[in-house]
Amino acid sequence: MLILFNHDLLSRDEATIDIEDRGYQFGDGVYEVIRIYNGVFFELEAHLDRLERSAGEIKIALPFNQEELKANLEKLIEQDPVQSGHVYMQVTRGVAPRNHPFPAQADPVFVAYTKEYETEPSRAPGRAVFTEDIRWLRCDIKSLNLLGNVLAKQFANEQNVDEAIFHRGEWITEGSSTNVFIVKNKTLYTHPANHLILDGITRRVVLSIANDLGIKVKEEAFTKQDLLESDEVFISSTTQEVRPIVEVDGVRIADGKEGELTASIHAEFTGRLS
Ligand SMILES: Cc1ncc(COP(=O)(O)O)c(C=O)c1O
Repeated sequence: MLILFNHDLLSRDEATIDIEDRGYQFGDGVYEVIRIYNGVFFELEAHLDRLERSAGEIKIALPFNQEELKANLEKLIEQDPVQSGHVYMQVTRGVAPRNHPFPAQADPVFVAYTKEYETEPSRAPGRAVFTEDIRWLRCDIKSLNLLGNVLAKQFANEQNVDEAIFHRGEWITEGSSTNVFIVKNKTLYTHPANHLILDGITRRVVLSIANDLGIKVKEEAFTKQDLLESDEVFISSTTQEVRPIVEVDGVRIADGKEGELTASIHAEFTGRLS
């Protein structure tokens, strides 16, 4: 495994994280996951823009510009080729004696490495559970602080289902690591991209596909009840693409099969990969 560590390519043994790295102690940093299909990054620029935005929102100045980062990532997959997989990257505020306020002096620490998938992530119709969204109110920032998401996904695992769907009161926000869509009367609904959800890159691709297919879209919040009574439910993410959800909290969605619009959006999604 090769690690892109700031500007250098290192072996895993050479790449060491300081005990006082603020990412380690405070989760003080942001991250991205970019899918690689056939050795090529998917939606690279959108992910790098979002990384820059997330870092900016927590006042971390990235130690490189986008062109430099792109060149470094290309170097990484040249030296450590991946056919189908992803690159994970994170940047933290840097190393400083432990104290909550930003340190007067710290150099951001950037790390990236790839993962080749042994098996493709499943997009078989999945099941989900509802869970109260206990996260902070800046879910638009792709922060390293993922405890709320981790606890929710663990809850889903313990129920033997694939995803936990967050709600604030009655209102659905997103999944623990996915965006959530429903279809009702041929209209596609998803939560607006505000501070309550991550503006998923796959979510944006889905919305663009829906537009191309002439599907009516409403970026509006919907309730748990709306979801349970919908015609189709699916989730989207970099790793899971577009995945139908056919049961939530033990309630079957419509006929319990992948819906028509979900299938056509996924087919179009696959078409965009080549
Ligand atoms: C909370 C959350 N929402 C949505 C997404 C989907 O985002 P993307 O499509 O950019 O992977 C993720 C991905 O990790 C996530 O963690």
